[in-house]
Amino acid sequence: MTTEKDDTDVLAVFAMFNELEEDSKARPREQTSPILAAGGWQSNAQLIEDVSRLYFREKDLVVDITYGRGKFWTDFEPPGLVKHDIRGDGVCWSKLPEESESVDVVVMDPPYVAMGGRKTSNLKGMLDEYGMTTTQSWNAREVHDAAVPGMAEAFRVLKPGGLFWYKCQDYISNHRYQPASHWAVTDCLAMGFIVEDRFDLVLAPRPQPFGRNQEHARRNISHLLVFRKPTKKRKS
Ligand SMILES: C[S@@+](CC[C@H](N)C(=O)[O-])C[C@H]1O[C@@H](n2cnc3c(N)ncnc32)[C@H](O)[C@@H]1O
Repeated sequence: MTTEKDDTDVLAVFAMFNELEEDSKARPREQTSPILAAGGWQSNAQLIEDVSRLYFREKDLVVDITYGRGKFWTDFEPPGLVKHDIRGDGVCWSKLPEESESVDVVVMDPPYVAMGGRKTSNLKGMLDEYGMTTTQSWNAREVHDAAVPGMAEAFRVLKPGGLFWYKCQDYISNHRYQPASHWAVTDCLAMGFIVEDRFDLVLAPRPQPFGRNQEHARRNISHLLVFRKPTKKRKS
């Protein structure tokens, strides 16, 4: 069972990301060349801007299937961006309206926190943000598994050679390391995707909460995985 003690860790990471988004609005950055695999960005929007510099081509059709509040696209928004979200236009990632093999880039940033055992009221903001206002209690693996139909739909709607940008984060829940990025790679490889690239967004570390023993490395990193749908079927 996930304990309230575990919540502190997840909330700290959430707060860190929110502060990061706020901070980055006030501090424009200089783009670096070459584009780096780790660090250098102050927000998801800056990360996405650099990923776009490498992996977005003019006239690409980009579909964000977890658009949320659109924080990914405040620095760069592709023309004609399609914005799906179960709490936005009501589209569930398990049944996308796009035709098969019609999209150049699919972007997915699913919820990544386990909800089990949560009782604290200050979780509401985070759960709202992640579309997890349900009372259902899921463990970390179940939260990941819920996103797998979205990966499969991404594979279906992508053109051969199309790209799937998947945002995720490993974290500590129930006193255990939950390797969500590893699960994502494993599932996407099994579907037929190729791993094309990986960007690591490194955050400023926060101190260990007072009175808590540290059991694992404090998570101050999240990942943007880039998968490619193969252009040709491989011979078995
Ligand atoms: C981490 S947030 C995405 C934040 C977004 N990238 C942004 O920039 O604001 C996760 C999003 O997934 C959405 N979501 C959760 N379950 C979904 C589902 N089954 N189908 C589509 N969207 C879903 C939530 O509504 C939430 O907006």
